[in-house]
Amino acid sequence: MDSDSDGIGDFQGLTKCLDHLSGIGITCLWLLPFYASPNRDNGYDVMDYYSVDPRLGTLGDFVEFMHQARERGIRVIVDLVVNHTSIQHPWFQAARKDKNSKYRDFYVWSEDPPKSDPKLLMFPNVEDSIWDYDKRAGAYYLHHFYKEQPDLNIANPTVREEICKIMGFWLELGVSGFRIDAAPFLIKGIGIEGANQQDLPDFLAQMREFLSARRGDAILLAEANVPPDQIPIYFGNGDKMHMLFNFLLNQYVFLALARQEASPLRDGLKTLPEMPKNCQWLNFVRHHDELALDRLSQSQQEEVFQAFAPDENMRIYGHGIRRRLPPMLDSDSRRIELVYSLMFSLPGTPLIRYGEEIGMGENLSLPGRDSVRTPMQWSNAANGGFSAAPAAALSRPVITEGEYGYERVNVAKEQRDPNSLVNWMERLVRLRKQCPEFGRGQWQILETDEPCVFAHCCEWEGNAVIALHNLSDRKCIVRLKSSEYQHLSDVFGDRQYEAVSDDSGSIPLEAYGYRWLRVNQM
Ligand code: GLC
Repeated sequence: MDSDSDGIGDFQGLTKCLDHLSGIGITCLWLLPFYASPNRDNGYDVMDYYSVDPRLGTLGDFVEFMHQARERGIRVIVDLVVNHTSIQHPWFQAARKDKNSKYRDFYVWSEDPPKSDPKLLMFPNVEDSIWDYDKRAGAYYLHHFYKEQPDLNIANPTVREEICKIMGFWLELGVSGFRIDAAPFLIKGIGIEGANQQDLPDFLAQMREFLSARRGDAILLAEANVPPDQIPIYFGNGDKMHMLFNFLLNQYVFLALARQEASPLRDGLKTLPEMPKNCQWLNFVRHHDELALDRLSQSQQEEVFQAFAPDENMRIYGHGIRRRLPPMLDSDSRRIELVYSLMFSLPGTPLIRYGEEIGMGENLSLPGRDSVRTPMQWSNAANGGFSAAPAAALSRPVITEGEYGYERVNVAKEQRDPNSLVNWMERLVRLRKQCPEFGRGQWQILETDEPCVFAHCCEWEGNAVIALHNLSDRKCIVRLKSSEYQHLSDVFGDRQYEAVSDDSGSIPLEAYGYRWLRVNQM
């Protein structure tokens, strides 16, 4: 929400939106980078870690926002982008100018042209090497992302101290933790000559120690899309990251949806390594980046592409989809609800991104990942109520046309409609809070006689809930193979079903139907 009509959303605008967020029942907000930035990568190229980008407001506005969020019981997590800085960060500027500057060793240099493995490129087709020559420095510098984002040298203890100082600053301003951007690159040590590769992951423990000493209830959430055997590096013994984005399960969810079969989900869940008791998964459907499919095999990726991104223009980086969920599902509200009901019931904490609560669409005419980064659609006022600036001045165009145009999809309209997605989502959030078993409990996959139904049970502190999700377009009757689960009562579902009777053991489900059932103790 843009408060000063310059076409860019800002902190004062966001503060006004807190009532909407609190109305849905949001408990914590994750803010994407809002630091001073030349904005080559949507703010993920920071040039001052201690300031708010003037386009988004001032530190004063940030503090006011934090206060208002706290008043509503909403915590705030911020992005910590410290794998790299912007090329315009004073550290990099000093480093390139003077070989003897203490900042030279803040980055990773090579005098000779290093070999670049194309597999390491994060933005294939955009960059062609992870090394770029800087004339001023007379050397090559490492950058896993855009060339305007030089990688920091984490092996340098002074850099580590600086990172802790940044965390300390925002913790003092009241944040409840950090999303660690690009965590795997931070600790991989590629190109860092002489770095003790074993030591680098210890930095995660060092960050944790610092964070927990400053604020015991703050968390670290890592963005690490890595194979299952590497996940323990991030959780450690419960002494590193508290949470990890569940990239693996996310990809298996989409494979299961594409096949209309539960088996990929069962396999996906079984692939997740055990985690320490004080750690947690963060489950999501979509976020601001591409839907990455790189943990699936080539042929599995192809299945998901065929189902949800048939056109080349819907794909990105060879292994991703640059779409939002509702258009991927042809706006089928049954399937949209099914996906969120499923995601909210999977072991972990659910995350939704702005616009998901109202079913926003994408704009494929925008380049790259911008397709899913269009302004929030608040109302049917000009620019979807996002900004009073002329449309041409908006940071990105609002979706105006078609089924997902702001006149059809917006918060104000949906709030008035008892059958809207936003009101359904609010109920979902409320009921999820009433079923803490999903987040904290011991999960178990339940065997059924229907391959299209994913059934699981979560037990916590003597209570249990069961969730059934029918991934297919035909209705069915599910029989749970275990007779252990009796006295089931409906908590949530795609419609009002008749109560499950104890003797039949048969549970009907509509096409794309879902039911959450509480196991009552007699
Ligand atoms: C993360 C962000 C992505 C950004 C990249 C580089 O993957 O989610 O948007 O481009 O890091 O900072």
